[in-house]
Amino acid sequence: MDKKKFYITTPIYYPSGKFHIGTAYCTCLTDCIKRYKTLRGYDAYMLTGLDEHGQKIQTVAEKNGLTPQEYVDKMAEDSKALWKRMDIGFDDFIRTTDERHIKSVQKIVEKFLEQGDIYKGEYEGWYCMPCENYFTETQLVDGKCPDCGREVKKMKEESYFFNMKKYEGWLKEFYSENPEFIVPESRKNEIFKNFIDPGLEDLCISRCTFDWGIKFPNDPKHVLYVWLDALTNYITALGYGSDDDSLFKKYWPADLHVVGKEIIRFHGIYWPIFLHALGLELPKKLYAHSWIVMKDGKMSKSVGNVVYPEVLINRYGLDATKYYLLRLMSFAQDSMFTPEDFVERFNADLANDLGNLLNRTIGMINKYFDGEIPTDIKEHTEFDEDLEKCAKETIEKYIEDMDSYHVSNGIQDLWKYIARTNKYIDETAPWVLAKEENKDKLKNVMNHLAESLRRISIMSRPFIPGTSLEIIKQLGIDEKDATWDTVEINNIKPCTKVVSQGKPLFVRLDKEVETEYIRESMKK
Ligand code: ME8
Ligand code: MG
Repeated sequence: MDKKKFYITTPIYYPSGKFHIGTAYCTCLTDCIKRYKTLRGYDAYMLTGLDEHGQKIQTVAEKNGLTPQEYVDKMAEDSKALWKRMDIGFDDFIRTTDERHIKSVQKIVEKFLEQGDIYKGEYEGWYCMPCENYFTETQLVDGKCPDCGREVKKMKEESYFFNMKKYEGWLKEFYSENPEFIVPESRKNEIFKNFIDPGLEDLCISRCTFDWGIKFPNDPKHVLYVWLDALTNYITALGYGSDDDSLFKKYWPADLHVVGKEIIRFHGIYWPIFLHALGLELPKKLYAHSWIVMKDGKMSKSVGNVVYPEVLINRYGLDATKYYLLRLMSFAQDSMFTPEDFVERFNADLANDLGNLLNRTIGMINKYFDGEIPTDIKEHTEFDEDLEKCAKETIEKYIEDMDSYHVSNGIQDLWKYIARTNKYIDETAPWVLAKEENKDKLKNVMNHLAESLRRISIMSRPFIPGTSLEIIKQLGIDEKDATWDTVEINNIKPCTKVVSQGKPLFVRLDKEVETEYIRESMKK
């Protein structure tokens, strides 16, 4: 039987500067969901990329003394290198300057023109340069950009418009039939209140004021304005509108678009309408995640509170960085990054709870059984019963959370099980059993600990893939004996030998030194 497919995307980021942990978080989250789906047997396909056109990129390139093309070429290399460094399993990387994208977008615009979805008019509005977005008077907050709070400029120009109003009735009907299209629900309510209920405005889709963009078909003094160009990346990357659209046929519709909450409006209004106008299926779901914020608000270079992923990865390792970001961010609320919290979580969750559990278990199996994990089990105690019950409940809860993309909750489910397993050591007190020379009881305890760790390895695979494999490697368990379909059963084979000397997964950090280190990096 063919595997079920799962197509997941990140936003295509603006290459206007170095990526910080906010961008890294979104990419990690997407990668983690892809890994979870792969673990569950899906044929998962992940797309990421760059949104390379627009005035802002043109300006940044000039500042760097480069042509826009030279600048974005360099940024594309840098961001691919970062994602490789972060072991992100993206299957394709789309750039809006790719020939494949440009050709397909022009075809899409031609189709809209033929259908009468696009008309020429004049646009006047308040323009926010950094956001590349026009706002109406009423949308401004204290006369400033409602998205980023910066200055806006009154601008007027000849433009092409997409007739959104034509599809308003359809959009409302779509949402009434698909109330869970956007999660969390609060994000859907916001766009209804601010944009759909007051009545849709037609969308301006071209510009004459700059030329770094895709040329408008048959009217080259216009270039496409970024959102039509950007949103369509999710289908042009699959070959939509090209001679080879086999990937499109295979993977579309997307199962999940992961986006930040500030761009859910574009994904929740314009993107469904574009797709509907093209006669295409809609994605299954949009997840609007929230933001990583700092003590003094949004991360910004001028404030000097930006954390870069490389700083954390180079000093604390890739998995610690991934773990922290994924654990930190709640499903629906902004979450605050602090250096103190990073170090505390590292020490408590990774070094203590998980690291010590593995280390103690390996140490005891070496000491009591010459390194061989006992599998001939004759005992069964109430502690075993309780631990097994906890495993069963954890797996159920984990599936529920991960299937609904509550990744931080999935991690917390797993850590409860880790804590329960640690408690099992205290309850059974193997050192006492050893003194009493109670071999059968001791065998039983060691087997339970090793099986717990095998299960923990399986469930942690989407979040901390390197550590997950290191756990079974140190236990001497083959990867094929720690696959998802074995998560509920006992599956350690006879004669499995743990490593003779366990290596700590995470070495405890000095709190003062390390919080200072992270804080210093933010000033650079
Ligand atoms: O909006 N916390 O690109 P962008 C969490 N090109 N996530 C954050 C974050 C933070 N502090 N800062 C950024 C664009 N992000 C368009 C998208 S899609 C067709 C076009 C993440 O470079 C978050 O996912 O501004 C956000 O939506 C994305 O980066 C924005 O990237
Ligand atoms: Mg942005």
